[in-house]
Amino acid sequence: MNFRMNRRRRVYEGKAKVLFEGPEPGTLVQYFKDDATAFNNQKKGTITGKGVLNNRISEYLMTKLGEIGVPTHFMKRLNMREQLIRRVEIIPIEIVVRNIVAGSLAKRLGIPEGTVLPRSIVEFYYKKDELGDPMVSDEHITAFGWANPHEIDEMMSLSLRINDYMSGLFLGIGLKLVDFKLEFGRLWDNDELHIILADEISPDNCRLWDVKTNEKMDKDRFRHDLGKVEEAYQEVARRLGILMPESVITSEGQPE
Ligand code: TMP
Repeated sequence: MNFRMNRRRRVYEGKAKVLFEGPEPGTLVQYFKDDATAFNNQKKGTITGKGVLNNRISEYLMTKLGEIGVPTHFMKRLNMREQLIRRVEIIPIEIVVRNIVAGSLAKRLGIPEGTVLPRSIVEFYYKKDELGDPMVSDEHITAFGWANPHEIDEMMSLSLRINDYMSGLFLGIGLKLVDFKLEFGRLWDNDELHIILADEISPDNCRLWDVKTNEKMDKDRFRHDLGKVEEAYQEVARRLGILMPESVITSEGQPE
């Protein structure tokens, strides 16, 4: 057990990550676990090395997004499983952007998986595990005060920019960005409110299909017991150029 780990305060523990108090006020340390859940916690498991890979993948994507002017909570990677992030007030809305029909959209509307959408679709879900993150409209969001119209506009336009940028980035490495989920937070700077990208971007919350074979290279392999789960996460990292082909990821660095 790591001595320093004992001394810092756990601020929040989610299904795939733990947040600890950071070294400076306004910062947090985000620790990536190997734990995986699906279907709102009904299915639980471990994807060996996932935390290490998602830490690197999210670092890479958030850094790239920062370079094109998308404000993010990412500050720097600290070690294999941890990154320093800005502390934000998480807006309790999950934003899903879809380019190709898959997952809950295919099921809910009976549209075949793989149907290319005529334009990207943005959906909102209320972040509430007890309710299974129900889909909501902007009317619900403003009526219940989860976010105001300006914040919704800002989250929508950032999400579409992120979609454009990441679709191109993944296409360049032979992957189709089918859909993904984002979370945003509020940050006050000199009395000014900023909406910034938070959480993580990784194969846990993106659907990525190989351009040539349509093979799924994301958490759907775990959700639907397709096998080669670890290999898929490693392949995404490898194609992004952040994992040497021969690297073997172990469960090193698990908390406590
Ligand atoms: P869905 O088709 O199950 O609604 O998922 C859409 C996208 O959002 C997919 O890339 C997976 C991601 N997602 C999450 O990251 N967390 C969630 O809780 C859910 C339901 C989906």
